[in-house]
Amino acid sequence: MHPFRSVGARLSLALAVVVAGALAVVWVALVPTLHHRLVNGRLALLAQSARQIERSETGQPTQDFVDDAARTADANRAVLFNANFRVKADSRRTGSSADVAGDPVAHRAAASRARAEGVVTRAGEPFAEVAVPDRYGGVMLYAASLRATLENVDVVRSRLIWAGLIALGLAVLVGWGAATAFARRIRRLERAADRIAAGDFAMPVVDLGRDEVGELAAAFDRMRRQLAQLDDARRAFIANASHELRTPIFSVGGFLELLQEDDLDAETRAEFVDAMAEQMARLSKLATDLLDLSRLDAGGMRIELEEVALDDVVRDLAEELSALAARRDHALEAVVEATEPVIGDRQRVLQVGRALVDNALVHTPPSTTVRLVAAGRTLRVEDDGPGIPAEHREQVFARFTRLDGSRASGSGLGLAIARELAERMGGTLSLEARRGRTAFVLELPVFTGNPAGLRDNRHEIGAR
Ligand SMILES: Nc1ncnc2c1ncn2[C@@H]1O[C@H](COP(=O)(O)OP(=O)(O)OP(=O)(O)O)[C@@H](O)[C@H]1O
Ligand SMILES: [Mg+2]
Repeated sequence: MHPFRSVGARLSLALAVVVAGALAVVWVALVPTLHHRLVNGRLALLAQSARQIERSETGQPTQDFVDDAARTADANRAVLFNANFRVKADSRRTGSSADVAGDPVAHRAAASRARAEGVVTRAGEPFAEVAVPDRYGGVMLYAASLRATLENVDVVRSRLIWAGLIALGLAVLVGWGAATAFARRIRRLERAADRIAAGDFAMPVVDLGRDEVGELAAAFDRMRRQLAQLDDARRAFIANASHELRTPIFSVGGFLELLQEDDLDAETRAEFVDAMAEQMARLSKLATDLLDLSRLDAGGMRIELEEVALDDVVRDLAEELSALAARRDHALEAVVEATEPVIGDRQRVLQVGRALVDNALVHTPPSTTVRLVAAGRTLRVEDDGPGIPAEHREQVFARFTRLDGSRASGSGLGLAIARELAERMGGTLSLEARRGRTAFVLELPVFTGNPAGLRDNRHEIGAR
């Protein structure tokens, strides 16, 4: 990264600009005002004294009077000019009075015959001056040096400059230091993000700060944990799916080898072919289920919501599955109570019903009854079978779960797909089990005859 693009450089620069700006404001607000006030104060004092001296003046002013006036007015010098603008008396007795001969303040007072004041620089030294015309046509000039006063302003000025430079240096240092610490934390997060992107979820993302970066790190860590879970689930899914696929494929392969032997009688051969057909059916059901699941996961499963009559669904299912039930030595009963029209995808409702009836036929002892019930807005499949232990009631809906272990012919995907479909249609699939009895209940939203309701529902499903 370019060094001037770093957070450190930017923060230092920003702090330096703020400090410099603040100093400039202080400078502009303070230095000229201080100068102005000090000079004006000195002039005001001189003018006040001059007025008092003027009032106390009794006769023609003399050298003594001028000396007194210089002392009284707290002026460095008092000079008396006569009407012709010649120096008549000067409190500075040594040297000539030529330096004040053309004094502009005295000249102004003489010309206007009124008090005049101003700042005059003589031989590099600034003076506050007040000139007052006297009653004999002359002018009295009072001059007080401003050197000491203005030196104070210079002290303030130089202190401000030094304080400013130190503050600027500190601002740059503090800004750089703070930003470097900050940048180090950000860089640590960046490395963590790269690690996660590379599929390494093992190392937690830690930042002990309680500020926004700390919160960002916590969010990163939540993301890491979730991705790790998803990754575990994905691996488990692939492992389970491959295992489930391998079993029937190996079995078919084994039968094929056996069939290649010449000394097989026709009866054994037919038995093997039957077994192979069964494994192929299992394989093709598994492939269909896996495809359904991947479509559900990828959002590619089309669900067409429409009005569905559950009594019709129950009758159709009973008709379709009664032969299978008979083959499996079960009685299949269809019961239709008062039903309400519901919202669903008829084909998917039939698919859920098939999976539930299939379970009730497969996972129960022969000669028991399976009941298909349509009541209200629910489709129920009840059996008298061994029931499902309370501790497994949620587990049966998980993918690849089989409670009856290796005895089972299924792959444990039926209920997982059924529940997912129920939820995609805006409904629920739940298990009501009492000792020795099982009932799976599919509940769907009621169709109110309002097409807008259907559209809303569809929208919601699309958004999942
Ligand atoms: N009606 C039931 N009575 C007793 N146990 C059941 C019943 N329905 C499901 N189960 C148990 O729940 C497990 C999961 O059922 P699920 O339908 O998901 O899988 P499966 O039937 O084993 O295989 P698949 O449906 O994929 O062919 C079953 O293996 C079984 O142990
Ligand atoms: Mg099943």
